[in-house]
Amino acid sequence: MFDPEEIRKDFPALSRLVNNKKIVYFDNAASTQKPIQVIRVMQEFYEKHYANVHRGLHTLSQEASKMYEEAHEILAKFINAYSWREIIFVSNTTEAINTIAYGWGLWNLNEGDEIVITVMDHHSNMLPWRIIAQIKRAKVKYIDITDEGYLKYDQLAELVTGKTKVVAFPIASNVLGTINDARKIVKIAHEVGAIVVADGAQSVPHMSTNVRELGVDFLAFSGHKMLGPTGSGVLWGKEDILEDVKPFKVGGDTIIDVTLDSIVWHELPWRFEAGTPNIAEGVGLAEAAKYLMKIGMENIREHEIELVRYTLKRFEELGGEIEYYGPRNPIDKTGVLAFNVKGLNHHTVGAALDMFGIAVRTGMHCAHPLHRRLGLEGTVRASYYLYNTFEEIDYFIESLEKIILLKKSLSGPPTEIICTGT
Ligand code: ALA
Repeated sequence: MFDPEEIRKDFPALSRLVNNKKIVYFDNAASTQKPIQVIRVMQEFYEKHYANVHRGLHTLSQEASKMYEEAHEILAKFINAYSWREIIFVSNTTEAINTIAYGWGLWNLNEGDEIVITVMDHHSNMLPWRIIAQIKRAKVKYIDITDEGYLKYDQLAELVTGKTKVVAFPIASNVLGTINDARKIVKIAHEVGAIVVADGAQSVPHMSTNVRELGVDFLAFSGHKMLGPTGSGVLWGKEDILEDVKPFKVGGDTIIDVTLDSIVWHELPWRFEAGTPNIAEGVGLAEAAKYLMKIGMENIREHEIELVRYTLKRFEELGGEIEYYGPRNPIDKTGVLAFNVKGLNHHTVGAALDMFGIAVRTGMHCAHPLHRRLGLEGTVRASYYLYNTFEEIDYFIESLEKIILLKKSLSGPPTEIICTGT
């Protein structure tokens, strides 16, 4: 195991104060902080090696191209891809899924075809499929969830039929944290010949990912949620299926040759990385992946399970004031906790926590249909990562206790505790 206190020393942002309090950063599902190793590698890249890639014979361009290509190799190792050529650098998960929806869907979907997604998908894995379905007159169907936030796998047999061409799902929910059974979904989808697209935005940063074992055809994830820079991310696809995908964004570096009548596309992955890519971001993402591999993804997962277990236990001490959503068993979820304080708006709770220096996300977290399905106008979401500690959770619970006391004092006669010493 690793020592989170040691890890924290690598993260400059974690030593700052917010509202005169030591920051407690619990907004990792939205984006993570960056270690000094990632910041330095990007600075050094700009200071010593920067030039455009694949466009110059000069030394700097050669150095930049080599570093950028090596970054693809490191990401291939990170998810155990068959080859670095299957690693397409994109700006984020959203761009990765749009690349598949348009690059595959525009050319392969027909009227009457069906796309199966889930009610727990965030908008990045929902809207591209809905728009492409509109364009191609296909139909979108949804796998529902149970009250505790698990997918209803028993619906798969009915929803996935001979008409199904795509099944897309999140490996982990960005609200409930639920870890879905990819292999179960893949088996049923592949039986009818559908392609399977996995949204790994909330899983790849938090657990070991092995695309060979997952069995999916495509995987999308973001760099900024795994200690990397913004503007970095990966679309992974099986090489033979990627050969069937047409570039969605086209332009510089996507071709071998162009005449006025013909186009010869570049080899993988360059045909999908149109224009000057986010070069320094790709190099930074590789450094983030190296950092995570050094700590060990199994260790990070183990740490988050214990943080969740501890929080759920401490929630119970809050006198039934917390409404919590998602699986109760920490093994079944990532370090994401969506909840409400009874009688308080989620934004009020988030703003109050910020006064204590605690960063959480409030609202519907880019998952409006999921919140509607749960009958909620919004939730407070605390989401953990490798640098979070049990002490931070104690402080979070103490802060919630104070917010609950304040709520009671504002909505009724002053409580004894509030009056003490005043
Ligand atoms: N999808 C990201 C989140 O869950 C932005 O916060």
